[in-house]
Amino acid sequence: MGDTAKIGIGGKDVELPVLKGTAGPDVVDIRKLYAEADVFTYDPGFTSTASCESKITFIDGDKGVLLHRGYPIDQLAEKSSFLEVCYLLLHGELPTAAEYTEFEHNITYHTMLHEQFDRFFMGFRRDAHPMAIMVGAVGALSAFYHDSTNIDDPEHRMIATHRMIAKMPTIAARAFKYSRGQPFVYPRNDLSYAENFLRMCFSVPAEDWKPNPVLTRAMDRIFILHADHEQNASTSTVRLAGSSGANPFACIAAGIACLWGPSHGGANEEALNMLKEIGTVDRIPEYVQGVKDRRYRLMGFGHRVYKNYDPRAKVMQTTCHEVLAEVGNADDPLLKVAMELEKIALNDPYFIERKLYPNVDFYSGITLRALGFPPEMFTVLFALARTVGWIAQWKEMIEDPSQKIGRPRQLYTGAPQRDYVSVDKRG
Ligand code: ACO
Repeated sequence: MGDTAKIGIGGKDVELPVLKGTAGPDVVDIRKLYAEADVFTYDPGFTSTASCESKITFIDGDKGVLLHRGYPIDQLAEKSSFLEVCYLLLHGELPTAAEYTEFEHNITYHTMLHEQFDRFFMGFRRDAHPMAIMVGAVGALSAFYHDSTNIDDPEHRMIATHRMIAKMPTIAARAFKYSRGQPFVYPRNDLSYAENFLRMCFSVPAEDWKPNPVLTRAMDRIFILHADHEQNASTSTVRLAGSSGANPFACIAAGIACLWGPSHGGANEEALNMLKEIGTVDRIPEYVQGVKDRRYRLMGFGHRVYKNYDPRAKVMQTTCHEVLAEVGNADDPLLKVAMELEKIALNDPYFIERKLYPNVDFYSGITLRALGFPPEMFTVLFALARTVGWIAQWKEMIEDPSQKIGRPRQLYTGAPQRDYVSVDKRG
């Protein structure tokens, strides 16, 4: 018999099992609490609630650790590739050479979209935000590929998985091209995942496009850094949508909608805007004072889970330097502002006391801008990369025999029961 927790309520003691994971805090299993004590637990924002059991990603926010299937994110970013990380997240182990070749083939040969799909894009206003296009287009995949929407069939689940990882760059690049008024570029199977995506975004019929290994590697690494992050808001949205049996394309569209919010996927755009607003290093003290006076927040700083340096931010900082040097912008004034701001904040008691460290978004805006992306594409790139995390978490949930529809309860504070009053008697 393992540990138990006791709650004394209404003169009665209820004993609850305590479950242990391989790492991280134990959890008190409250599933029987309502039946035994007629009470719910209350935790809006899920700050103390484990919503599921998972074997995919582990975060230790106090130590600044992020592991995918046990492997540290910095090792994966340095030594692996995005597609290998996709395989790892989906299957639990790094692939053998043969498994990798087969996986890469499966992804590469699903990158095209049904031709009729292009007409779907044409329905959007030409100035539509690319995230609006993403939500609509990814949801529409279920209408085009309903031969892979039977969630009870493992083969269907795997095909839908391959399709989504493969088609997301094509959809994202089309959303970008559409907003620019440029022709769509078809995928090419001889290019790597990141090369293919950059080419679909930046090549135009009027001139040749050549892959740049430094920029391609940076793009791939940015995808790795955003691939999964355990039960964050968008992932929990995907799980909740999927718990009703909804098809995976619809679930991922729900995840994209959630990611769109500025507290989640939109923060890198805000961080870039902040650096632009500061503009020069000499204005940093004044800006930091404004943060301390609580007039605004330091964007790209702080995290709900990390109370230490976000391990992804370190990799992003290195990538940022590499990209800016490659595009001949090593002296970018915004990079200077970012580095100085980081130095000041990390040594200032206000930020130290509150455990505020740079998060992944602090350097990603400058990097993505140097790669050629406008701010409205930043969240789209996040969605593209996170698709594998969403789908791996969705698959894990569907394959769990104890899976149930997600149905939170509530603390009701509205009117008690009362009788209907006809309109002539109201007032
Ligand atoms: N700048 C200044 N002060 C901050 C910041 C910040 N970025 N973040 C938190 N604080 C302060 C708060 O004012 C508060 O101080 P107080 O105790 O004196 O009132 C304390 O730190 C705790 O703040 P909370 O809001 O309770 O922290 P929470 O964990 O809920 O917030 C969040 C996390 C939303 C990410 C927050 O740090 C923030 O707004 N950061 C800026 C936005 C950002 O960069 N988001 C990206 C997140 S990473 C991602 O989504 C990939």
